[in-house]
Amino acid sequence: MPKQTIRDLELSGRKVLVRVDFNVPQTKDGEVSDDRRIRSALPTLNYALEHGASLILVSHLGRPTGKPEEDKLFRMDRVAARLQELLGRPVVKANDTVGPDAQAACAALRPGGVVLLENVRFNSGEKKGDKKFAAQLAGLADAYVNDAFGTCHRDEASMVAVPECFPPERRAIGFLVEKELQVLEALLSQPKKPMIAVMGGAKVSDKILVIENLLPKVDQLLIGGAMTYTFLKAQGHSTGKSRVEADRLDEAKHLLELAGAKLVLPQDHLVATSLEPSAETKVVEGSDIPEGWLGLDIGPKTADAYAARIRGAKTVVWNGPVGKFEDEPYRQGTLKIAQALAESPAVTAVGGGETAEAVEEFGLADQVSHVSTGGGAFLESLEGKSFNSLKVIPDK
Ligand code: ADP
Ligand code: 3PG
Ligand code: MG
Repeated sequence: MPKQTIRDLELSGRKVLVRVDFNVPQTKDGEVSDDRRIRSALPTLNYALEHGASLILVSHLGRPTGKPEEDKLFRMDRVAARLQELLGRPVVKANDTVGPDAQAACAALRPGGVVLLENVRFNSGEKKGDKKFAAQLAGLADAYVNDAFGTCHRDEASMVAVPECFPPERRAIGFLVEKELQVLEALLSQPKKPMIAVMGGAKVSDKILVIENLLPKVDQLLIGGAMTYTFLKAQGHSTGKSRVEADRLDEAKHLLELAGAKLVLPQDHLVATSLEPSAETKVVEGSDIPEGWLGLDIGPKTADAYAARIRGAKTVVWNGPVGKFEDEPYRQGTLKIAQALAESPAVTAVGGGETAEAVEEFGLADQVSHVSTGGGAFLESLEGKSFNSLKVIPDK
């Protein structure tokens, strides 16, 4: 069922609390190193402002520990500065979330005004879903919008208890959450066939539930990344020094049986003698990795074969780089997969922190149908989970 959206809200003259996910990647010094999550919230923010609302924006940043020295990096000031640039209008940064500074800034808001509150996780009530804290936060605003897709799998106060403080007709999702849900719907219920999933990444253990949920829906599941070697080991092949999750071999065997011919493993591998960028590399064919070598990317034949399969699909979902793409020698496989998705006229959806980063880095993000702003939220959605943060937003 579609959810009530910001289009359904009375906005003129109202103070709208928008829960955004401005949990952006930062440099060591705390600079915003990738503003995609901020840019992705702009359609909702601009729409509300154009319709006469003022905005109270709430987000977490990082995982604060309560130690002031460490938490300094997680203050929202640089995010506020970047948002101000992108919005092209003043953004008032409050130095607390529900304290006197926030209250004064919100009280002074007029239509068209924007306040960004301090990191909501600086309050211990946020993680606990504390109702008292939620009531204080909700008390600042007239209506609530969830546009924080990346945080939808969390039951924190600003995601669940805060919207519950508003009457149902004053709760809605924003355009980003709406788009993410539409894409997931296109992937998970009656996708256009053939449908292909490409799964890679660091660990098979992170992706077992996703694979189980996707298997009945997809025509083929193309495997790459480090999880390849756990599957190969489970089949009895030698894996050299490759990354293998030895405690997951039974689960890998179970998935192999469940999937049968749908699960496709690489036919060649780019291997190296160590993780050092200067290590010797070579391509090995087949399913055995020689002693003393580790697999760090799919080989060129696999990349071409996977690209050809992607060309024949009408729906493609991709999570997990198929190699250690951060290092130049091991990025070709991931680049070829990204290019194949970009060239395809199919519905092509990409999600996961590092996968999205790779597609952005290759400059191909605009050429796929959708790059999710979710890491954990995207994966849990692919697992078939539903979120409390969305249950509290009424259906239309
Ligand atoms: P995502 O965040 O997109 O869900 P993951 O977190 O599962 O992806 O995995 C991403 C990481 O997997 C990347 O940092 C990449 O370097 C690593 N990786 C992929 N293939 C290999 C490999 N063969 N060996 C070691 N690391 C790998
Ligand atoms: C994310 O980056 O996945 C979300 O912002 C949630 O952050 P968290 O994993 O710290 O809850
Ligand atoms: Mg990751």
